[in-house]
Amino acid sequence: METYYFDNSATSCPKPEEVYKAVEAGIKDYNANPGRAGHRKALESGKKIYEVREKIAKFFNIENSLNIAFTANATESLNFAIKGGIPTGSHVITTNFEHNSVLRPLFYMQDEKEVSLTFVNTYKEIEENIKSSTKAIVVNHISNVNGTVQDIEKIGKICKKYNLLFILDASQSAGYIDIDMERDNIDILCLTGHKSLFGIQGIGAICLKEGVKIIPVLEGGTGSFSKLSRQPKEMPELLEAGTPNTPGILSLGAGIDFINRIGLNKIKEHEDILTKRFIKRLRNIDKIKLYESFTENQGPVISLNIEGIESSDLAQILDEEFGILVRAGYHCAPLAHRTMGTYETGTVRFSFGYFNTEEEIDYALDALKNITLQI
Ligand code: ALA
Repeated sequence: METYYFDNSATSCPKPEEVYKAVEAGIKDYNANPGRAGHRKALESGKKIYEVREKIAKFFNIENSLNIAFTANATESLNFAIKGGIPTGSHVITTNFEHNSVLRPLFYMQDEKEVSLTFVNTYKEIEENIKSSTKAIVVNHISNVNGTVQDIEKIGKICKKYNLLFILDASQSAGYIDIDMERDNIDILCLTGHKSLFGIQGIGAICLKEGVKIIPVLEGGTGSFSKLSRQPKEMPELLEAGTPNTPGILSLGAGIDFINRIGLNKIKEHEDILTKRFIKRLRNIDKIKLYESFTENQGPVISLNIEGIESSDLAQILDEEFGILVRAGYHCAPLAHRTMGTYETGTVRFSFGYFNTEEEIDYALDALKNITLQI
């Protein structure tokens, strides 16, 4: 059966051809351990990694590419940012649309480091919740449940005004929407490589604004300063303990090359057309309950339910009868479901990517309509 992939919030699929090639090169041609030896193969791998750091810096307008550390995923980046960057005893404002990769480290900070938390639905409520003890704002740029887009330029301005640490989870937004560390006044940008940036699973990054201090929560070999008994204080070594994921890093570089070639605006435009088309027709189908963005901007992620069908059953019907691949349930974001009123039921999530087409959207709409007519 032909398949229709609408689970790009989980991971983008397929990847651009050059990403597959980059992974192969990472395993075949650049497979010495970068930074761990002075021989030519290790140096070549190190040079390739440096080139990707530069690409990321250019893509997100980061002045010094050495302020970018590669991680395994956004979860690791967010743990580094939250546990290593938020002071003990401080007050933090975050949103109800956070993923567990933010919520669990924040609740750890609440339990163990006397951090107090305020949850808001959108960026519009942040300023009114700032107190003298507020030290950081942690925000999911685009909800992985209903595509709520937070206005990071406005949040950045608030953070500047009140001197707050701005930690951005860009898991769902990087590679879809323009992010500029300087313009948006982001202190710590947390990235995953395998979603809209088109890299493979197992690669992420954390990007620090010049001067932002983080205490490392992971220590180990860095290939440099070997006689030091403590983790080096310099970036990226500060946050890069252990052998890096060279094939993953190269895949991320190739993903960014692809985006630059197509044009970020063009990618966004295409995904926005698909999302609008989907939502517009869904609104007219009886028995469909749609869960849309809480702000004026809608990302390419949308949740829905069909009255009378469990979300997990609906996802199974879509897969088995129509070849439509979506994610059902809670999407690791329990507070989002509490906020949307779907805490008991969960939702079925459609998430679109650059390789989806309008024909595929229409196919999914027909399938959903068909299912509603059968119940
Ligand atoms: N965070 C990913 C998702 O939303 C895995 O599906």
